Amino acid sequence: MVTLQNKRIVLGVTGGIAAYKSADLARRLREAGAEVRVIMTRGATEFITPLTMQAVSGHPVHQHLLDTAAEAGMGHIELARWADAVLVAPASANFLARCAHGRAEDLLSAVCLATAAPLAIAPAMNRQMWAGAATQANLDTLRARGARIFGPAEGAQACGEVGPGRMLEPSELVALTASLFASGALDGLAVLVTAGPTWEAIDPVRGISNKSSGKMGYAVAAAAAEAGARVVLVSGPTALPDPERVATIRVTSAQEMFDAVHAHIAQVEVFIGVAAVADYRPTDAAKEKIKKSAERLTLELVRNPDILASVAALAPAPFTVGFAAETENLEANARAKLKEKRLDLIAANRVGAGDGGFDTDENALLVIDRDGNKTELPPQSKTRLARALIQLISEKYHAAKQRRQTQGRAQDPRPAHRH
Ligand code: C5P
Repeated sequence: MVTLQNKRIVLGVTGGIAAYKSADLARRLREAGAEVRVIMTRGATEFITPLTMQAVSGHPVHQHLLDTAAEAGMGHIELARWADAVLVAPASANFLARCAHGRAEDLLSAVCLATAAPLAIAPAMNRQMWAGAATQANLDTLRARGARIFGPAEGAQACGEVGPGRMLEPSELVALTASLFASGALDGLAVLVTAGPTWEAIDPVRGISNKSSGKMGYAVAAAAAEAGARVVLVSGPTALPDPERVATIRVTSAQEMFDAVHAHIAQVEVFIGVAAVADYRPTDAAKEKIKKSAERLTLELVRNPDILASVAALAPAPFTVGFAAETENLEANARAKLKEKRLDLIAANRVGAGDGGFDTDENALLVIDRDGNKTELPPQSKTRLARALIQLISEKYHAAKQRRQTQGRAQDPRPAHRH
């Protein structure tokens, strides 16, 4: 089944007769789970009304670049940032020319220029305009810059001619849009992710936990599934629904998380420990609710097992990725943790007042590999950040595998990875 669950799609509609199909397209994108915001060019409004597009998308249509009222709430930069993908359907020859030349005099072109999200274009035009040398050169330019061109199909055209230039059908465009998110970077691999906090019982109703929401770990699990991996998510207590296409195992304590991880670890090539695991637990959880009596109460705590370090120490070990949430000396602490726990990769984020991290929707990461190379992933939504991290993990995993194959295992001081 095609899914666009939780994806944010900016649907650009330009002036062409196929614009009448854009209403159906918006409806189908939403049915597939996407949130849709529509941008219409002036030409598009000659073919279909903004009211129709507003009704099917569920949001006011964005039309003007320099209209303060229309830009209030969500201006072109916010729209560009908001999008997980920009789909222009139909895309006129004129739009292709504007986009290829980086023009920004209308809202849609400006958003296409300003976005870091994938851009997909579904051209629709008369077959001669399609075949025109200028149009083809513009398409080449756009393709070379990474834009995906969906279609066009061949067939009878509104102008009475027959040939290439028909916009693809909405159902095909929805499927192709969904494929933008399936990177295939982890095709054929199995990945285990831990997420959320743990809960260490003091008595049947009280416990020690932390502020982790699980959002980052869930986003990492979803991004790994999107990238083609078979994913097992071992999650501490969170309020989040199970991510799609992910086998989710719910646990409560660090010890349960440890057990669940080790029950599955032999089957995976990549382990990503995102959970904020409690370092200590009460030595003995009281069987009954502790009564308020004495003035002082001492809780004795014992160390929990370090799940991440225990996975990295396996022989063979999977490619092991840790997280480091730090309030100070981010890089130095992350480097130390990478070494101590013998990780392949560590992703560090600053937590604490105003720094994102725990229980927020945005985050930024500093990622350091075993050779000390660092990559900064700038502040962005956890969904996007997780995709960027998965891309990086895939590159490092494949590079490590390649290196081991060429150098031979004898030179590698670490236990062999499971590949
Ligand atoms: O040492 P520290 O807790 O800062 O390390 C954080 C990393 O170690 C995270 O990836 C976390 O998931 C993992 N961890 C673990 N088991 C523990 C403590 C931390 O897997 N008991």
